[in-house]
Formats: sequence, structure tokens, C-alpha cells
Amino acid sequence: MRSKTIEYRNNRLRIIDQRSLPKKLIYRECRNLKDAHYCIKTLAVRGAPAIGVFAAYALYVGMKDKKAAGREAFFKQLDKAAGYLKTARPTAVNLFWAIDRMQGLALKKSRLDVNRIKKAMLDEARKIHREDVSMCEQIGRNGARLIKRGDTIITHCNAGALATSGEGTALSVIYRAEREGKRVKVFTDETRPLLQGARLSAWELKRGGIDVTLICDNMAATLMRQGKIDKAIVGADRIAANGDFANKIGTYGLAVLAKEHGVPFYVAAPSSTFDFSLRTGADIPIEQRGADEVRRFAGVATAPGNVKVYNPAFDVTPNHLVSAIITEKGIFKKPCTRSLKEI
Ligand code: MRU
Repeated sequence: MRSKTIEYRNNRLRIIDQRSLPKKLIYRECRNLKDAHYCIKTLAVRGAPAIGVFAAYALYVGMKDKKAAGREAFFKQLDKAAGYLKTARPTAVNLFWAIDRMQGLALKKSRLDVNRIKKAMLDEARKIHREDVSMCEQIGRNGARLIKRGDTIITHCNAGALATSGEGTALSVIYRAEREGKRVKVFTDETRPLLQGARLSAWELKRGGIDVTLICDNMAATLMRQGKIDKAIVGADRIAANGDFANKIGTYGLAVLAKEHGVPFYVAAPSSTFDFSLRTGADIPIEQRGADEVRRFAGVATAPGNVKVYNPAFDVTPNHLVSAIITEKGIFKKPCTRSLKEI
């Protein structure tokens, strides 16, 4: 049975602590805003849709015990909490989308007393959670139409159940195709520096009964040249109005390789990952992370301790390298500003 990535039960917000995988499956309870910020920043919870769902609950958790002297004070505290949570990571738009939606809802209920506003916020977080589950399901259903029996698919990072509250985006397509009897095979890139492909995708695909093979990031070109890959499917952290998108560093390289070798390259993402306020991918903020993520792994030095490091966590793939974007609303072939307007 699939373990729940995010859970809100008996007034407690729990997540799978993804930093411990694949060694240990442990849950972590998040009790306040500071802890929620820490969980997002350190990737205990990660993946754009999961960050959004988690942030929605976290904002409620951060507000529920606050004693405000009236509505005005409550909204001041809410603004502060929302602003703080938004500083956890910059690239996945789902974080900002979910927090804005929670604040918007609270404002809409601003005539109610504070306790009822809080209750409405919990209801909204639960709604965001349910919607995420069903968006994943629909993405899987739509995307599976593109998969042929016996296809071998390459994926990068983790856009699976661990990155959402459902079955994932890219991996939801794979799970669905498998349930339809298409007997797919998957290659997952290990995804340096933090190994989301090796630690998370390989773990969850194996648990899900999918035929998965792990490769190092620099092996994808050879596999494509050998004709071993039929399709590439990845997730996204933010998609601009013209279909350029940010995803885990290395995605752009994979897209260039796919183009060179005639491999269709698909992006699977819910509508909460689109940012129509940005005209192109050049405007997407790219997170820079700490040097030790590259210099060390699991406490072991993998490079000289004083070597300079450049560590952007995401890259931007231009729309012309994308064969189609798979969303819960349908498949958008050759995405561009005009075709995506429909969303
Ligand atoms: O740094 P991470 O692990 O949060 O990066 C995650 C990704 O790049 C995923 O591919 C993306 O969020 C899509 S998840 C459905």
C-alpha cells in the first residue's frame, strides 16, 4: 500500500521525511510555522505539488493557536506568517499559489469571527489536498494515452507520489499505463546532487511494482543513442505562459538529448504549477543551494572542502524542446502562449 506523503489527522500535520529515504520510512510531525519552513527548505517535504499542499496546512497550523485581539490583528499575523513561509524556497510556484489561495479564502471570510475563519482555512487546505489527489489521477489518465505497450521511459528527479499527495505527475502516467497492462519499463536518472531519482523515484517505483533501472545522469545520452528510450517524462516546478518550464537541474540537458535522438519529451504538471504572470522561462527565479550539497554526500566528502561550487537547484527548458505538456485538463502539444491560454 502507498504511504501518504502528507497527512492531516487528529489535528496533526505529518509528512514522510524524505531525507531519510530510501534507508528509513519515517514520519515527521510539523507543529509550527518555523518547523514547516525548515521542512520545506531542507527538502523533508519536496516536489512542487507536495510543497503547495503542505504549505496550505502549515499556514493553518501556524495560525490556529495564535491569540489575536480581533480580526485586524489576526490578518496582520496571517500576512506575516504567509510572507515568512514564502521565503522557504523560490522556484516551485505551487508554494505561492497555495499560500495566496489560503489568504484569499481568509479574506473572503473576513466578516466571520476569528475562530470561524480558522476553521474555513482548514477546510480550504483539505480542499487543496483533495484537488491535488484528483489532478494527479487525471494527469495519469490523460498521459497514459501517449504510452504504447512495452515503452521504455526515462524520468528525472522525482515527480511521483512523494512529490504530490496523489500518485504523482510524471510517475502517475507510468503507474496508470502499467495498470492498463502496457508493461512499461523505466530508467530513472539518479539526479545529482541530492539524488531524488536514486533515493526516491527508484524506491517508490520498485514499491509500486514497476520495472525500474537506475542510471547515473551522464548515461542518458548513451541509452538514447542505443535506441533504448522511447519517451522522456518529467515534472515541473513552474511553467511560464509560453510553456518554458523550470524543473530539477539536469532536465534541460535531458530535453536537449531527447531532441537530438528524436525521443518525445513530455512534461506532466497540474494547473497549479502554471505561472501565467511570467511571459517566458527567463523570468522564473532559480533557487541556489548550499555548496556542501555538492562537496559532500551523507556526511562524506566527495570533493575538497574548500573548492568553489555552483549549485543551481533547477534549470529552465525552452518550450521548443517540449513535445507536449500533460495536465489534468488535457494534453497540450507543442506548447506556446496561444495554446496554453485554454488552461
Ligand atoms: O528540489 P526538489 O526535489 O523539490 O525538486 C523537485 C522537482 O524538480 C520535481 O520534478 C518537480 O517539483 C515536480 S514534482 C511533481
